[in-house]
Amino acid sequence: MTSDQSFRLGVLGSGRGSNFVALADAITAGSIPAQIATVLSDVAAAGILEQARQRQLPAQFIAPGKFRTKLDEEAERAYVLALQAARVDLIVLAGFMRVLKGDFLRAFEGRIVNIHPSLLPSFPGLEAWKQALDQGVKVTGCTVHFVDAGVDAGAIIDQQTVAVLDDDTAATLHARIHAAEHELYPKCVAAIARGEILVQGRRVIRKVG
Ligand code: GAR
Repeated sequence: MTSDQSFRLGVLGSGRGSNFVALADAITAGSIPAQIATVLSDVAAAGILEQARQRQLPAQFIAPGKFRTKLDEEAERAYVLALQAARVDLIVLAGFMRVLKGDFLRAFEGRIVNIHPSLLPSFPGLEAWKQALDQGVKVTGCTVHFVDAGVDAGAIIDQQTVAVLDDDTAATLHARIHAAEHELYPKCVAAIARGEILVQGRRVIRKVG
C-alpha cells in the first residue's frame, strides 16, 4: 500500500481502548497510511466503542454468545460478516479478550494482529504484567504478533522492552507497558499497511528500501 488511506482496518477490543486511540491518533497524524473501517466490541459499554463514536467512526457491539473466553458459532459468524461488509484488509486486536477460533481465523488468515503486554513467549494469557512481577523478571514489555490458533502464539512482528523497577506495583508496571504499547502498535500497523512486512515461517522480516 502507498501513502493513501485505502488500507482498511477493523479494530476489535473489549476494554477502555487506549491502543485504539493511539492508532486513531497516528492515522490522523498521517503516520499510518490506513483508515479505520469499523470498530467492534464484545462488551456493550466498552470504552473503545465510545472512543470510536467520538471520532465518528462506525462502532458496533456484537454479543459474544454463550461462552466466556471465545465467541460462539453464531457470534463468530456475525463478526466475520461485519468485518467482510467493512471490507477490512487487516484485523487489529486491541485488547480483545476472547480467543479467535476456526472459521474466523480461516476467513482472515494471515491478516489478524494482536498486541500483548509481555515479551512473548513469556507470560501469555491474562494479566501478563502481574505474571512478570510474580516471576521477578527485570525486563518485560509488549509484543505485536500475527494471530494463529494458539493463545498469544503467532509469529512475532516486533517487541518493545520495559524495565521492571524495584518499587513497581502491578498498576505502575502495567501503566508503563501500556505507554510502550501505544508507541509500538502504530509503528507495526504502519509497516503492514505500507507492505513492508514479510513473513517467513515464524520469522517476520522488515523489508528495507
Ligand atoms: C492492552 O494492554 C493489551 O496488551 C491487552 O489488553 C490491554 C487493552 O488495553 N491485551 C491482552 O492482554 C491480550 N492478550 P486498551 O483497551 O487500553 O487498549
